[in-house]
Amino acid sequence: MTETLFGYECSPWELRWRGLDVDALQRTESAFALSNGHIGLRGTLEEAEPRGLPGTYLNGFYEQHELPYAEGGYGYPEEGQTVVNVTDGKILRLLVEDEPLDMRYGTALEHDRVLDFRSGTLTRSTEWSSPTGRRVRVKTERLVSFTQRAIAAIRYEVEPLDEDLQLVVQSDLLANEPIESETRDPRVAAALDTPLVSQFNRAANYQAVLVHQTRNSGLRMAAAMDHKIEVDDGIRTRIHSEDDLARLTVAVDVPKGGRLRITKFLAYGWSAQRSVPALRAQVEAALAGARQTGWKGLITEQRQYLDDFWATSDIEIDGDPELQQAVRFALFHLLQAGARGEQRAIAGKGLTGPGYDGHAFWDTETFVLPVLTYTIPDAARDALSWRHSTMDKARERATQLGLHGAAFPWRSITGAECSAYWPAGTAAFHVSADIADAVQRYVNATEDEDFERGCGAELLVETARLWASLGHYDRHGHFRIDGVTGPDEYSAVADNNVYTNLMARRNLIAAAQVCEKYPDARQQFEVDVAELDSWRSAADAMFLPYNQELGVHPQSEGFLEHDEWDYKGTGPAFYPLLLNYPYFDLYRKQVVKQADLVLALHLCGDSFSPEEKARDFAYYEARTVRDSSLSAGTQAVIAAEVGHLDLAYDYLAEAALTDLQDVHNNVRNGLHMASLAGAWQGTVAGFGGLRDHGGQLSFAPRLPRQLGGITFRLAFRGTRFQVSIRPGEATYHVLEGDPLELVHHGERFTVTTDPVTLPIADVDAGTPPVQPYGRAPQRRDSSKLRQFVSPEA
Ligand code: BGC
Repeated sequence: MTETLFGYECSPWELRWRGLDVDALQRTESAFALSNGHIGLRGTLEEAEPRGLPGTYLNGFYEQHELPYAEGGYGYPEEGQTVVNVTDGKILRLLVEDEPLDMRYGTALEHDRVLDFRSGTLTRSTEWSSPTGRRVRVKTERLVSFTQRAIAAIRYEVEPLDEDLQLVVQSDLLANEPIESETRDPRVAAALDTPLVSQFNRAANYQAVLVHQTRNSGLRMAAAMDHKIEVDDGIRTRIHSEDDLARLTVAVDVPKGGRLRITKFLAYGWSAQRSVPALRAQVEAALAGARQTGWKGLITEQRQYLDDFWATSDIEIDGDPELQQAVRFALFHLLQAGARGEQRAIAGKGLTGPGYDGHAFWDTETFVLPVLTYTIPDAARDALSWRHSTMDKARERATQLGLHGAAFPWRSITGAECSAYWPAGTAAFHVSADIADAVQRYVNATEDEDFERGCGAELLVETARLWASLGHYDRHGHFRIDGVTGPDEYSAVADNNVYTNLMARRNLIAAAQVCEKYPDARQQFEVDVAELDSWRSAADAMFLPYNQELGVHPQSEGFLEHDEWDYKGTGPAFYPLLLNYPYFDLYRKQVVKQADLVLALHLCGDSFSPEEKARDFAYYEARTVRDSSLSAGTQAVIAAEVGHLDLAYDYLAEAALTDLQDVHNNVRNGLHMASLAGAWQGTVAGFGGLRDHGGQLSFAPRLPRQLGGITFRLAFRGTRFQVSIRPGEATYHVLEGDPLELVHHGERFTVTTDPVTLPIADVDAGTPPVQPYGRAPQRRDSSKLRQFVSPEA
C-alpha cells in the first residue's frame, strides 16, 4: 500500500512524490530544490509550466531597491536587497508531433519525482498521453554539482511508446522570466520586474551563453549551456540567441521503442567586478570542464561527495520511519545550503525560494552552523568568513548608531542592514553575539588556528566592542544592556534580555581570551590593557534579572509584570498573532513567539541549575505560541533535558516535518533552514544531549519510549565518532581518528575505536508542562506511524 499522506512517500533515503498534483507544485518545488550553496534550482518541471514559482538563484546575486517608509527616521536603512531569479537553464520543452507536453493537458499515466539523498539528484519519470492519444515516456535526472561549483546538468530522455513519433525538444536559457511579484510595494515590484539587462549573447553549435547585469546593484552574471545529443540519426538542430533567450532546437523522428537523449550542461557565474568577456570565459571554461568529466563522471563525483558526507553526519532513527526520512531530508538540504557557499551567506531559505528576499539572519549562526560545524566544518568556516568579509559594513552601522565595534545586520545579502523595522530588526543586537558564539564553536571543534587568529579574533574583538559600548553600568554597579530585542519577536526593545546578556557576556570573555592567546592579533586590532579589562569587568558585572518570588528568570526585565495574553479567547484562525493583532499589544503581554529564555537554557545551559531549567521551561511553555519555525527544535532540546521525553519527541517531529507538512503554510517561498537544523538539534542536542559549554563536548543521552534507538555521527577535531542510544544505554565509538575525551551524563570518559557502552538512568520529570490553549504540539501517536514504502510499491 502506497502511503501518500501530505503527498510524499515515506522512504529512508529519498523523497518521492508519485502522481501529478498541479496544486501541490509550489511546495514540492521547494522540497525538490537542488543546490550546492552557490547555485540553487527550484524543483520546477523541465517544460517550465505548470509551475508554482520558477527559481534559479546564485548565492549573493541580488537587486537593490529603495526601502519604502511612510515616515523616515535617523538610521533607517535606505536600500533594500532582494534575491534575483536569474537566467533559467532548467527549461527543456517537448513537442510530440504537433502537441506540446503540458501536464495540464492530456493524461499523466504515470508521474513520479524523486529526490535522492545519496545520489544528490532529482529524477522524474513521466508517462504521458497527449490529448490525441500519443504516448511517450519522459525521464529526466538533474543535479547541481557539489564537486564542480559552477555546474548543473540535466539528462533528458524521451521514448515513443506506441508508434514512431516526431519529437522536437527546445532547450532554453531564459532570462527575465515573467514572475508574479509577492511584494505589495510597487516600487520594489518595479525593481524586480525584468531585473536583468542583456549585455551579451551568443550561440553556436550546441552551445550558448547569455550575460546580463542588474539595473541597480550593477552585478553581472553569465549563464551558459552545452549539449550532448544521443539519437540514432536523422537529427535536425538549430541554435540561436537573443537578449533574454538562447535556444537549441532538436527535431528528430524517433521510432517506437527508440530514444532521444539529451544531456544539458549548465554553467553559472557572477561578479561585481569582472567584465563581460571575463565572465563569459569563466562559464565557458566551467562548461568545458563539465563536458570533460561527462554526465557519468558528474554523477559519480556527486555520489562520492555524498557518501563522505553521510559517513560523518548520518542520523539513524529506529522506530519512526517518517522521522527518519525527515531528518535525512533536513541534513541533505542543510548540506545543499552550505556546501559550496564559499564566503557567501547562507540565507534563511537557503537557495530554495525567494522567501525573506533571500536574506540571511541569525538563523545561520545559531541554528545552521552548529550542524555544519559538527558535520562539514569547512562549510561553517566559509559562512563565518562571509560574515567577516562584511565587517566594514557592520562597523559603519555601529558608527551610524553611535556605537563602537561592529553591529551586524538583522537581515541582509551583502552585510548591509536591510531591515526596515527597528524593533524586529537592528534592535535584535544579539545577532552579533550569535556570530561570536558560532566562531567559538567552530574554532573549538576544529582547532583551526589560522581562522582563530585572523577572522575569528577580529569578529570576537569587534563584537565585544559593540557590547562594551551598548551596555552601561547602573548605580548598583550592574552592567545593563537596555532597549534591545531578544529572539522572541513578540517582545521588543526591552531591558536586559537574559539571552542577549548571557551571550554578550560570553562574547566579551571570548574576545579577552583570544587577545591573550594571540598577542599579535591583539596588537593588530589595537586592543590595549584598559580595553581588555573593560570587557572582563562588563562580563563580571553583567546583569541577569531573576524573580525570587516566582523562581523564574524574566525573559527581559519587566516581562513577568506584563498582562497575560487571553489564550482561551484566541482561536486557531488568529495565529500567527502578528498578522492579527497590533504589535503594541503583543509587546505588552506575556506572549512569546519563539524560544528566547528557553534558547538561553540550551546555549548558555551552564548558567542555570537543573531546577531553574525545569521551572523556567514550564513557565515559558505556558506562554510560547510557536509562531516562528525556529522554536520547536529548541523546545525539543530543553524538554529532553528536563526529562519530558514525550513532549521532546512531539517537538522534534514538528521541527523535522515543518516543511514536508507545510506547517507554516509558506513552504512555497522556500524551505526553513533553521527549522531543518532544528531537526538535527532536537535529535543530537535533544535526545543525544550534546552540549559544548566551555569547549567540552558532553552528552546526556535519553531515548523516548516510542523509539528503539537513535544513532548519530559527528566530527570533532579531526575525529569522526558515533553515538548509539538504545533503551537504558548508549554506546560511543570512534570511527576514524584519535581518541576523544567526552562526558556522558556528567562522567568523563575516553572514547576510542573500541566501543564503550554506558548506562542511562531512567528519568521521571513529573507532570509535563502545559502550552497555551490550542498551541500544544501535535501528539506523535506511535500506533499511527507511517511505514516505509517498499521499493516495489
Ligand atoms: C523569526 C526570526 C527569524 C526570521 C527568519 C522570524 O519569523 O522570528 O527569529 O530570524 O523569521 O527566519
